[in-house]
This record gives sequence, structure tokens and C-alpha cells, in this order.
Amino acid sequence: MKYRVIKGTKDILPVETAAWQHVESVVRRTMHLFGYREIRTPIFEQTGLFARSIGELTDIVSKEMYSFLDRSKESVTLRPEGTAAALRAYIENSLGEQSPLTKLYYIGPMFRQERPQAGRLRQFHQFGAEAIGSPSPLIDVEMMLLAVEIYRSLGIDKFSLKINSVGCEQCRPRYKEILIAALKNIESQLSPDSRMRIDQNPLRVLDSKDEHDRLLTAGAPLIKDYLCGDCKKHFETLISLLDSLALPYEVDGRLVRGLDYYTKTAFEISSAMLGSQDALAGGGRYDLLVEELGGKRTPGIGFAAGIERLMMVLEKSGTHSFTVPPPDLFFVALDDHARRWSFGKTYELRRSGISAEIDYLARSIKAQMREANRQSARYVLVVGEAELASRTGKLKNMKTGEETEVTLDALNIPR
Ligand code: HAM
Repeated sequence: MKYRVIKGTKDILPVETAAWQHVESVVRRTMHLFGYREIRTPIFEQTGLFARSIGELTDIVSKEMYSFLDRSKESVTLRPEGTAAALRAYIENSLGEQSPLTKLYYIGPMFRQERPQAGRLRQFHQFGAEAIGSPSPLIDVEMMLLAVEIYRSLGIDKFSLKINSVGCEQCRPRYKEILIAALKNIESQLSPDSRMRIDQNPLRVLDSKDEHDRLLTAGAPLIKDYLCGDCKKHFETLISLLDSLALPYEVDGRLVRGLDYYTKTAFEISSAMLGSQDALAGGGRYDLLVEELGGKRTPGIGFAAGIERLMMVLEKSGTHSFTVPPPDLFFVALDDHARRWSFGKTYELRRSGISAEIDYLARSIKAQMREANRQSARYVLVVGEAELASRTGKLKNMKTGEETEVTLDALNIPR
């Protein structure tokens, strides 16, 4: 029986991990620069946490969650996203009592049982940030700048930022009624998916990927024309801040995110280098969510970005080649005695921060030299009876071919 990786999941192989580590280090550095601190929450949580926050009627909760009963018959779910868990931890650990604004970030795997395709996996990775405690549009902009800065630091500068306001509990209900009435007029012509959404989640109809739906709803009422005073002011300030920072953006009145917890600001960053799954990152404000999950009413905003999609863009733009540094030194041992000596020396050198390698397969000298070349070792030292007797050897610089006499007991590898 040959086992295979599960559909929609992927191995990240050693040739790829250097690029992943590079991305992760840029993410961490930028998050720290912006004052965000890492939180690590469990991979699985009570199912109710996600159902409650993301919304029972969303695609994620109704179709895509990996939920199962554990041995004590509790329903648990592999996290489909990071926000709900971060807020659960924020409330449970009273993080808000330590400071009025809590800035968190996370990096890790998420799970959604979607139909796999390019850029859409069942186990994928996200980095994301959440700022909990401020209603100010300044923090909305900080969140966008944070995401953009990460992309720019990675050499990606071709992307588009779309923003919208999805209103709040004051203005959205009235808008929903108006939208439902408008959609009912064209109901019979809409796709089956959109028809189903009219009553339950009408805003998602505007976001339909179906071309015919998009044409039909081209003139549908948009929430921006129905925002209450507070939401309108928030959105206008956000826009003026973006303008003053010369951060290019596009207002997309149809941008509705696939998660129900958003209020006011919603945004998405997409790349034309990706196919139909072109969203690199998405986020928005969730001023009611902390309360919804049992905490005090506390405003918040966040975003999350898919790492596999980011890798696809890096690959396509040719900024993808990251490598782990090669060994500093490769010992070529001529006999067993020399192999044992080299083995001890390898450990000693590694302990002093020099990466040294030896041959573990008792190969011929020629094969050992080939191996040193394959690993692109910077230096090679041939060790045999004569070298061990004289306690000296010839350190070969593999780039220049130059050989230098060295003392075995005080080996010094040039940096
Ligand atoms: P989301 O839009 O569901 O938002 O996901 C954010 C990003 O994760 C997407 O833009 C995409 O790059 C990536 N992503 C999502 N699903 C997949 C998949 N199946 N395969 C590969 N990549 C995927 C959230 O998750 C929210 N929690 C964002 C947020 C944080 N809002 C406020 N705070």
C-alpha cells in the first residue's frame, strides 16, 4: 500500500522551505515593526466558536469546515481561519485588561474543505493580524499598510487594494430589505446559488462569480448609498487617509467578504498574476464580534493573507530563489580512522557555529569529492594517515581551487 498526500493538501519540500522561511521572517519583522505580537492558538476549537463568528449561513460554516465529534462526543473543528480563535483567546485571557489596544498576529495552517484548484487548498497557510480595541479609521489604514508593507518587502508591488464599507447594525438591515426587494425582481433569472442567497445572505449575491448574475445585478442598490452617518463618516475618513498617504486603492461597492462578522470597513488585496483565485489577502472591521463571543463590546479590525498564493506570485515574478547556505567545510576521509577523527571534529566545529559535513556512506575519495561539490561546500579538507600524523592538512577553497596549509587542532575556516 502506497500512501499519498490527502487531496487539497501539500508537502512543502526542502527545496521550498527556504522561501517559506524567508516569507515568515519578513512577516515577523514587519509585524514587530508595526507593534504586533504573536499569538499561537490551538489548531482545533469548539465548532460553535466558528459557527457563531463566521456565520452559520456562510460557505465556510455550511460546507467547508472539517468538523468531527471527538471521543467525548464534543464537536470540534480544524480552524478554517484565525480571527475567531484569536478573539476567543483575547476574551478568555482578558488581554484587553492589560492594554486598551491589543495588537496580535499569527502564522499557521488553516483548513477548509473546498474544491481544490490552483491557489485553493484544503490545508493552506495564512499570516494575519488583529487589532482589538480601537474604533479609529487610523487603525483600519494601519492594517492595510501592514499588509501592503509585507508584500512590498517581499518585492511584490503589483497588486490592487479594494475597499468598501459593509455598514453596521444600524444601517445594514434597512439596506438588506431594499436589496432583497430589488433582487426579488430578477430572482428567476439568477443562478441557483444566488437565488438561495437572496433571503439568507443577499449581500453575497452582489459578490457572485457568475457572469450572468453580475450583469443582472449591475444596477442593484449598493450599501454605500445607504450607510448611516457614523459609517459614512468612518468610510470618508478612511478614504482621505489613504489619499494622504498616496496608497492606491479602488472603492468596490460590491466587495462583500465571505465571513459574516464584518462591520464598516472591508478590504481585499488581489493580484492579476493569480488566476480565478486572485485574492492575496482580505480583512475588515468586526466591531460586534468580541461581544458576540461573550466579551465586552470592543471594536476590532484585522486581515489575513494566504501564503501559498503569495508563493505563487513570488514564483511567477521570479523573486523566488532563496537557498539555505551551503556547508562551510566538507571532510574527505581516506580511511576509517580519519573518518572517526573527522566525525569528532565536525561536531566540534558545528558547536562553534561552522557548518561542517562528512561522508556517512564510506564512499571513495572521488565520490566524496563529488558529494562536496554537490553540496557546494565552500572548503574541503582531505584527512588521512599522513595528515593525522603531522597534525596538518591542506584546506582547499572550492571556488578558487587554492590550497592553504592548516593545523588540524586549530582549524580556522575563513568566513
Ligand atoms: P479570508 O478572505 O477567508 O479571510 O482568507 C484570507 C486569505 O486566505 C485569502 O485572501 C486567501 O489568500 C487565503 N485563503 C483562503 N482560503 C484559501 C484556500 N482554500 N486555499 C488557499 N488560500 C486560501 C479570513 O480568513 C479572515 N479571518 C481575515 C480577517 C482577519 N478578517 C479580519 N481579521
